[in-house]
Amino acid sequence: MTGESDIISANIRALGEALGRVMSDQSGASAFALEERVRLMARELRSSGDPQHAEALQALIASLKVKELHNLTKAFTLYFGLVNLAEAVERLRVLRERDLRAAPAPRAESIAAALAELRAAQVPAEVLQRWLDGALIMPVFTAHPTESRRRTTLLKLRRIFDDLLVLNLGERLLLPEDRGAALTRIEREIVGLWQTDDVRLHKPSVVDEVENGLFYFQTTLYELIPQIHRAMGQALQTYYPEHPWALPPLLRFGSWMAGDRDGNPYVTAEVTVDAARRMRASMLRHLIGEMDRLFSDLSQSRYQVSIAPAVYERIAYYQTLFPDAVAEISPHHAREPYRQLLQLMQARLKASLAYTLTLVPRWGVDPPPTPPSTVYFRSAELLADLRLIYTSLWAHGGHLVADGILRDVMAAVGIFRLHTATLDIRQHSNRHMAALDEIFRMAGIEQAYADLPEAAKRQLLTAEITSPRPLTPARLAAYSSETAEVLQTLRMIAALLEQLDPEMIDTYVISATAQVSDILALLLLCREVGLYQPGEFSRLNVVPLFETGADLANAPQLFAALLELPVYQEHLRLRGHNQEIMLGYSDSNKEGGFVAANWALYRAQFELTNIADRHGVRLRLFHGRGGAVGRGGGPAGQAILAQPPGTLRGQIKMTDQGEMISDRYLEPRTAARHLEQVINAVLRAGFNELLHSPEPAWLAAMESMAQIGWEAYRGLIYDAPSFLAYFRAATPVAEFGRLRIGSRPAARRQSDRIEDLRAIPWVFSWMQSRHTLPGWYGLGTALERFAAADPQHMALLQAMYQGWPFFTTLLDNAQLIIAKADLVIARRYADLVPDQALAERIFATIRAEYERTVHMILQVAQINEILDPQPALQRAIKWRNPYVDPLSYIQIEALQRLRAALPEADQEELETAVLMSVNGIAVGLKNTG
Ligand code: PGA
Repeated sequence: MTGESDIISANIRALGEALGRVMSDQSGASAFALEERVRLMARELRSSGDPQHAEALQALIASLKVKELHNLTKAFTLYFGLVNLAEAVERLRVLRERDLRAAPAPRAESIAAALAELRAAQVPAEVLQRWLDGALIMPVFTAHPTESRRRTTLLKLRRIFDDLLVLNLGERLLLPEDRGAALTRIEREIVGLWQTDDVRLHKPSVVDEVENGLFYFQTTLYELIPQIHRAMGQALQTYYPEHPWALPPLLRFGSWMAGDRDGNPYVTAEVTVDAARRMRASMLRHLIGEMDRLFSDLSQSRYQVSIAPAVYERIAYYQTLFPDAVAEISPHHAREPYRQLLQLMQARLKASLAYTLTLVPRWGVDPPPTPPSTVYFRSAELLADLRLIYTSLWAHGGHLVADGILRDVMAAVGIFRLHTATLDIRQHSNRHMAALDEIFRMAGIEQAYADLPEAAKRQLLTAEITSPRPLTPARLAAYSSETAEVLQTLRMIAALLEQLDPEMIDTYVISATAQVSDILALLLLCREVGLYQPGEFSRLNVVPLFETGADLANAPQLFAALLELPVYQEHLRLRGHNQEIMLGYSDSNKEGGFVAANWALYRAQFELTNIADRHGVRLRLFHGRGGAVGRGGGPAGQAILAQPPGTLRGQIKMTDQGEMISDRYLEPRTAARHLEQVINAVLRAGFNELLHSPEPAWLAAMESMAQIGWEAYRGLIYDAPSFLAYFRAATPVAEFGRLRIGSRPAARRQSDRIEDLRAIPWVFSWMQSRHTLPGWYGLGTALERFAAADPQHMALLQAMYQGWPFFTTLLDNAQLIIAKADLVIARRYADLVPDQALAERIFATIRAEYERTVHMILQVAQINEILDPQPALQRAIKWRNPYVDPLSYIQIEALQRLRAALPEADQEELETAVLMSVNGIAVGLKNTG
């Protein structure tokens, strides 16, 4: 039998050779020779570590024309893209082999494995059913600007992936000609990639971002998710066969694309409506196609079986609504009522699509326009029709058929409803405050709302929320454009829920929530536009987002105070006593460093859950995590299990952003594995039977290390003189804004302060320049000082690493990102700092902390080398590093030339070179930032 590493090496070799052929064919032998020369030099450099080799490589790159830099970058990037595919295929192959060996035992970290554990722990079926009834797992796709690759490129890579799967998984039955055809197709795609621009010509618009998000649903998720739902149903049946399971949707998707307007002026009310239409139209088109599939499946004849009368009644009803569709029913199907009904349902879906595409929601129209009965307005209406067929099939012995395609379509409607994903809205608390400041002033109620002390703000807001008097006129022309936009957005939501889709939007997130008044402010604005009517309804979850250290520390107290207010209790009552709270991983990290932020987040979760429990409120935590470790990234399943025990009650939301979306969802099998790991973790974290509480001494240790970590981190980032100068020069932060990756601006406001910079450019800059410090800085000092304080402490830390998932994850994630750091390359970036004495000083501090961190992790985790616990990953990263080097040198060179103010035309070319290298490094390191 061929060993694992043999297969992957053979694949990588074959792909590399194909790329080499394409390159010399397309760009000539000399371009290929240059690439080979650089590749060998980079390999030499790594194996010898000789600085002379580094200088030679740097000199060679400095001598190249921009076009040559582009070509080289393209070659290495493409190579990494192909290697990533080979690795992903290998992971699936190994998984499949393990499954075969382990069968019939369930695959590790699968849904079935979690259920097997629950059964073994004697969790009763009724308890599990109750849990399921309230469960919700919701990945939320955001448009955070960290996906540097074009959709065109991703699609081509996906096709290569499919062929690699054919070659690797279907091997035994593969004919030589099939093999040859697959190889040709792969090479064809590589030619296509070579001949295509790697980077976008323009920044994506918000609508482009929406379409990018929809792409994953259309290519993967619409099909895949019902299968996962089915797997869940089967696993329940296997491990609890005695229980009659009713499986709710469980999974739902959310989207921030065109909903998140915090710091993005291009996300307007109008754009949000456009997105809503597109998301709904996408799902309706999918369903129209599904009706065709069902049509060919459900040919049952009334001559053969007895079909439920309700089906005939429904057909009769639709015949009056869709006379044209009736005319289209073929005489061949005269005895096939399901087909007739499906054809009519399809007509209703088509009418819904036409309605969706043309509707302009209008606020404040009297009486409110209601959607015609020819369209499906709520998903329940479509589900009811499908259920008629389902029940009828069961009644005449067709349950196997009912549980085939029909069941999948019903699951899809339960999960995606009629709009693909729930569109969340986010805005910054300051924008609401400024809007209210103006509204109160214009209404003659309060001249300086923004300056009022918190208590007075609360009082005023409470009075106004309960007062029936409107504050704003129908026309908004008198307000500033910012205030008008805040109100327009809320009016648009109200109209959209009333006229287009009542389920499409249910959450409004308030960034930088610091006070109770930030929450009441939104509630008042909701009341103002008819989204909240005390005593009657409240249409939105009002969700605070806590992200800075101070806000996280204050969050429990704020939450408790909020829950005491009758005016908020009324809103919660109308929302079924459900409260969602969002936690921001990136900004807390940027502010206080890796250790302090992770601890602040852990504590906040724990305390917020306790408060919710005391008030009889069901809390759903929404985790705002990025892909890189410095933004809360890391393996998703592990992150879930690392949460404080007892805080996850089956409901969880988490962001999926940028390159993580393509990484996880581009290809169905990879997506299936990711999602089953998430569900496994949520199930296991949901039952106390499987959890162990951390020891009090561990909590105390973290408390003290968080403080030390905070001081160490702040000491460098915010207190070290001239650190800012180092950051600005030794990383590509200044260039980030010009990178054409996302629609939103890089900073909320123009300023030089790190506080004002968004977390993405911050982490991105350190990632690209290979310092990667947001993912580890301060950890070494925290561990070292804590260990030195008492001779028992090292053993304590080791026990924490062995026994506490939070701490294990903390150190494992740090290992992940440390393995991607490279201080030799980072030093080259430091060369870009004009003041070299300063550069050396700062760099020496960083290097010392890096070495300390590595040293301490090795001791605490009791390993010899970083990433020892994950040998495959360790190998992959080590093996990649030499080939990332040329990309780093190219980036440094391009930055240098770009900063040396050249004529406009060259600037553009160089910007492309920087963007291409960003792309390449991101693909090589599998993290953008
Ligand atoms: P934000 O996100 O700046 O949109 O809050 C930060 C991040 O995801 O890193």
